[in-house]
Amino acid sequence: MNPTARKILVTSALPYANGPIHLGHLVEYIQTDIWTRFQKLGGHQAFYVCAEDTHGTPIMLKARSEGISPEALIARTAVEHKADFDGFDIAFDNYYTTHSEENRHFSEFIYGELLRKGHIERRSITQAYDPIEDMFLPDRFIRGSCPRCEAPDQNGDNCEVCGATYSPTDLGNAVSVISGATPVARDSDHYFVRLSDFEKMLKDWTGSGRLQSEVRNKLNEWFDAGLQDWDISRDAPYFGFEIPDAPGKYFYVWLDAPIGYMASFKNFCVREAIDFDQFWSNDSEAELYHFVGKDILYFHTLFWPALLHGAGFRTPTAVFTHGFLTINGQKMSKSRGTFITARDYLTHLDPDYLRYYFAAKLNNRVEDLDFNIDDFVTRVNSDLVGKVVNIASRCAGFIHKRFGGRLSASLPDLDLFNHFVSQNASICAAYEGREFSRAIREIMALADMANQYVNDQQPWVVARDESRAAELQGICTQALNLFRVLMIWLAPVVPRLAQRSADFLQCPIGHGATLHQLTEPLTDHEIGIFTRLLDRVDLDKAQAILETPQNMTTQTDTPQAGHLTDEPIGDQISIDEFLKIDLRVAHVQHAESVEGADKLIKLTLDLGEETREVFAGIKNAYDPARLIGRQVIMVANLAPRKMRFGVSNGMVLAASGKDDLGGVFVLCPDEGAQPGMRVR
Ligand code: MSP
Ligand code: ZN
Repeated sequence: MNPTARKILVTSALPYANGPIHLGHLVEYIQTDIWTRFQKLGGHQAFYVCAEDTHGTPIMLKARSEGISPEALIARTAVEHKADFDGFDIAFDNYYTTHSEENRHFSEFIYGELLRKGHIERRSITQAYDPIEDMFLPDRFIRGSCPRCEAPDQNGDNCEVCGATYSPTDLGNAVSVISGATPVARDSDHYFVRLSDFEKMLKDWTGSGRLQSEVRNKLNEWFDAGLQDWDISRDAPYFGFEIPDAPGKYFYVWLDAPIGYMASFKNFCVREAIDFDQFWSNDSEAELYHFVGKDILYFHTLFWPALLHGAGFRTPTAVFTHGFLTINGQKMSKSRGTFITARDYLTHLDPDYLRYYFAAKLNNRVEDLDFNIDDFVTRVNSDLVGKVVNIASRCAGFIHKRFGGRLSASLPDLDLFNHFVSQNASICAAYEGREFSRAIREIMALADMANQYVNDQQPWVVARDESRAAELQGICTQALNLFRVLMIWLAPVVPRLAQRSADFLQCPIGHGATLHQLTEPLTDHEIGIFTRLLDRVDLDKAQAILETPQNMTTQTDTPQAGHLTDEPIGDQISIDEFLKIDLRVAHVQHAESVEGADKLIKLTLDLGEETREVFAGIKNAYDPARLIGRQVIMVANLAPRKMRFGVSNGMVLAASGKDDLGGVFVLCPDEGAQPGMRVR
């Protein structure tokens, strides 16, 4: 490790363990990943840690509604999240969970220190309580009419009609979203961190260039309004860590969530034999950065530094805040048809496209950014394919066919190469300062220059003249060297393209490389075969990421209380779960009894594009001949079931009473339906 190497610990906010990773989240994970990869490329000791944020009421209720334990829910989500992050090449050094012994340890320790130093206060508060569910209700689980404008069915803490903010106890006709019961007021003891004890420390901390100016202004507003005590406890039932010596009281999820950064790093340190204290002790010289969205600023710029300081740890070097992603100018939402999950994207497109697009748009301000499909396609095709990859594809063939894959021994235009190298400081400064869009702009300006070089030198003309072979080899070597320099800079943004380029040039780029290698041209070196490095993005495929089941349903009327949160409650299933069932209209081509099975009829069903064999247990109610020529509704994506008489590829829907008493009735679509039509 070089002596000027910095020690850098980087985090992204921990995703909640009750929903899928979506494109909005990815703004943050991609931004952080690019930045950390850039630091590693610079030869620094940089680590990127994250974890599942697993605690809290919504997770407890979601698990309950699925009839599984919270542990099972968070384990399943962790697997899904990890697969999504891998799919986008988010290279965490450690990805852990807040439901861990390390996290319990640090949460108890930090709380214990604050308690010991007198920063914790216990007092009774009155809260809304659901008498049916026997639990206190978080604000988002209460709805009622607005105390100001009387608009019905508003959130527990703010009115979407007039914008008023209030306490849920002020709502008119309040109901619990969980049970529908009218909440009652009930007292309970809670633990509070006296944030005002830390006012001076926080003002010093925020004043010393750690925050973007917009963020500092926001903080000053909060200081002016006066720092409120922070309630860090919740009553059972709750999924989280029980507070020591306080039976039935749990740490609020937002206490142990940021501590999860530490816990994840601790878990990593033990495994990798790294000195944890070097990064977290009060006198640490390591740098600590948190990347977060603008919605969770309060937690990261007030609560978190106060917790750390109060417990004798170092505070963050900086908090880097980004804005929110919109899709084609709209807020991401299922009802607007603008909700795109990481999976939806990966089913259709290469992750490097999105990484590049975000990089090209991200700066170091707290601005929202828009994912516009047309712009996305144009940008990726014209920059990555049309400019960067084009340099290589115009020259690689000549080196192969004419020079056995060997590059020339020197560069014909060393000045041009050195001009590229001389831009390194500016490009690095842009990366370091999270001005990715500027870095990309500068890199693309150089790509234009490289293409201009090829245009001017016209290797395809030179190639026609056998006596100019050395010249041809030089031109192509020059161009491939310029391409290589560009790819070294782009490697943190497009790791897959970088890897394919490294394989093609047979030299390290990105992974295993450092920025220092940039200054040395690649000469007298054998390169690999050129295969297509990157395909153009297809507009149809890009559009397909919006046409997902969750986006294809149009919600016509406003849902009522009890249905207003995204999470299903009790035995309800979510619209996503329902839409997983592929129901189709099918035409009964043939039906026959099954020898040896007195209840079964074997049906041959025409689904428009295919036919299926399905066994249905309806013989008691139907004569097979009566079914031929009719239309039925079938579950088309049921996993095939092996039966004694053959394989059943689907299921036909029928209505029946208990134990089939009172008959069995096959469901049929109305006249005019066509085989293969989807039912919803
Ligand atoms: N679990 C908390 C964070 C705890 S950190 C100790 C949380 N989780 S989250 O899943 O809701 O969000 C994770 C991160 O994604 C947050 O930084 C959030 O700001 C960011 N984003 C979520 N939706 C987003 C957009 N639409 N656009 C950009 N970032 C977004 O908050
Ligand atoms: Zn109102």
